[in-house]
Amino acid sequence: MNSTVLNLDHDHVELLIGNVETAADANAKAVQNTVLSPRFYTTDFAAMDRLNVEPVRAEWDIMMQEYEGDNNHDHFQRDAQFAEEVKTLMPQLSPEMRQEFLDFLISSLTSEFSGCILYNEIRKNIDNPDIKKLMTYMARDESRHAGFINQSLKDFDLGIDLGQLKRQKDYTFFKPKYIFYATYLSEKIGYARYITIFRQLEKHPDKRFHPIFRWFERWCNDEFRHGESFALIMRANPHLLRGGNLLWIRFFILAVYATMYVRDHTRPLLHEAMGFESTDYDYKVFRITSDICRQVFPIEVDIDHPTFRACMTRLVELSVANAAAKQRGGLIGLIGRAVTATQAVFTFGRLYLVPVKKQALPDDIRMQPVW
Ligand SMILES: [Fe+2]
Ligand SMILES: [Fe+2]
Repeated sequence: MNSTVLNLDHDHVELLIGNVETAADANAKAVQNTVLSPRFYTTDFAAMDRLNVEPVRAEWDIMMQEYEGDNNHDHFQRDAQFAEEVKTLMPQLSPEMRQEFLDFLISSLTSEFSGCILYNEIRKNIDNPDIKKLMTYMARDESRHAGFINQSLKDFDLGIDLGQLKRQKDYTFFKPKYIFYATYLSEKIGYARYITIFRQLEKHPDKRFHPIFRWFERWCNDEFRHGESFALIMRANPHLLRGGNLLWIRFFILAVYATMYVRDHTRPLLHEAMGFESTDYDYKVFRITSDICRQVFPIEVDIDHPTFRACMTRLVELSVANAAAKQRGGLIGLIGRAVTATQAVFTFGRLYLVPVKKQALPDDIRMQPVW
């Protein structure tokens, strides 16, 4: 396999992720909206209210029982060993590694909280009993996830003020179908990311540099189930999965993959500490996500295509060049940013034209988190 390995040196990483020293820095980082940072969303609540899941009623009811059973109700509590491990392990992190880990925690928290807010707003603004119940359960899970990460930020005295974040961050409006594509993908990719880390550290416990990773296995089953919910909604409304919508699906898969790839390449030390290399980690995650997405998307992007791989690498380089131009400032910096942004759009266009694989959807919609 032609895996293009790309390593950024620390100066480039710092350029891309910046430094977090104080709680104000951490909060500012969570609030900021860049191409790479997790966003907050709002949608058309009346259209959400009209959703019908009757065509998948049997699967839906089983899933709702799982939510009700709440097998993770006792999971997001720290044990005594947690504090001990934090006390011993955190002072051992190099300053560079500490920045990458903080970046990881803050962006993970922001995306967990993004789900929490969206699901909660939908819940409050609709009457449809099926969707309302689902949103209640998913908001419950995401609020636990966000709160659990925030405790780890508080260990560094860098807790995020979630109320303030909710008020200060910009919201992006997405029509429901875009919410389904994007949120389905981000739940499933979230599962794939967490389980890949968990399995790696299960094999190499000496590389578990923070206790939070011990929580990832049961945690990612929540994300898996959230993804299942959107899979059922889309399969119940099959017009979302054919015709011109396939162009949107292709766009969202590539946008989600590219964003993750560029963002992960700003954290080479974090992956190295876990015994990964960022590129290999990302392709493992792409592969799991693509396997799962066969339950719902009739097309699949070709992650082994040489052009796909070349474009991903190019997007990282352009992201570094864009950040360097921004730091330089002035007219030259402005021109540099415009040029690199145009090149990134062009590269994304090339990525979009890589031929996709087509597949028939399985009769059995539900999947199990077996990775
Ligand atoms: Fe979550
Ligand atoms: Fe989730």
